[in-house]
Amino acid sequence: MNNIHPIFDTIVSREAKEQLLQQKAVVIWMVGLSGSGKSTLAKSLEKALHQQGRLTQLLDGDNLRTGINNNLGFSESDRLENIRRASEVAKLFLNCGVVTICSFISPTYEIRELAKGIVGEENFLEVYINAPFEVCEQRDVKGLYKKARNGEIRNFTGLDAPFEEPQNPSLELKTDILSFEESQTRLIDFVISKINKN
Ligand code: ADX
Repeated sequence: MNNIHPIFDTIVSREAKEQLLQQKAVVIWMVGLSGSGKSTLAKSLEKALHQQGRLTQLLDGDNLRTGINNNLGFSESDRLENIRRASEVAKLFLNCGVVTICSFISPTYEIRELAKGIVGEENFLEVYINAPFEVCEQRDVKGLYKKARNGEIRNFTGLDAPFEEPQNPSLELKTDILSFEESQTRLIDFVISKINKN
């Protein structure tokens, strides 16, 4: 990195910003198949935290893919780049003291290790939104499973692109078994226990 002179150590610190906001910043990284419930749970989590006076930012795959990541598709290398940029953006919010909720399929170990490495292991809480492929296909909220089956979409996660289940997530929510309210409550309680500044 020739001719680059970062000023990380002289800008207002994360600690000072957390103090200002009276919260501990974390990155909640939600992993799961398309249609597993990630975005819905992420939105309800954000709303609940906001109502409790927390400053939050929600980064969602579909949203980022309309902006900063609008030149990326679903090949393995594009997904890696998608997650690399998302993680770097998450890190900026983290260092601003913000509770940052990330909702991306993040289908492979490699991708999640990349995210964890960028954000920092101590800041990274992996939440696995677990619904079996068949259940997500049954729901098919966006009609994408049908298109993938018809061959209109290639590299579809769980069909002709891999999904490697998280082995040791900080929290797992089986959205095919739990009611939405139960998943929501467990998620909110989990996050609140991590962000309270004593
Ligand atoms: S990731 O694999 O790179 O983490 P990301 O979460 O950003 O994926 O985007 C997933 C969203 O893109 C899905 O929720 C779905 O709406 C849409 N999508 C479009 N094509 C695909 C595909 N081939 N595989 C998975 N999701 C797709």
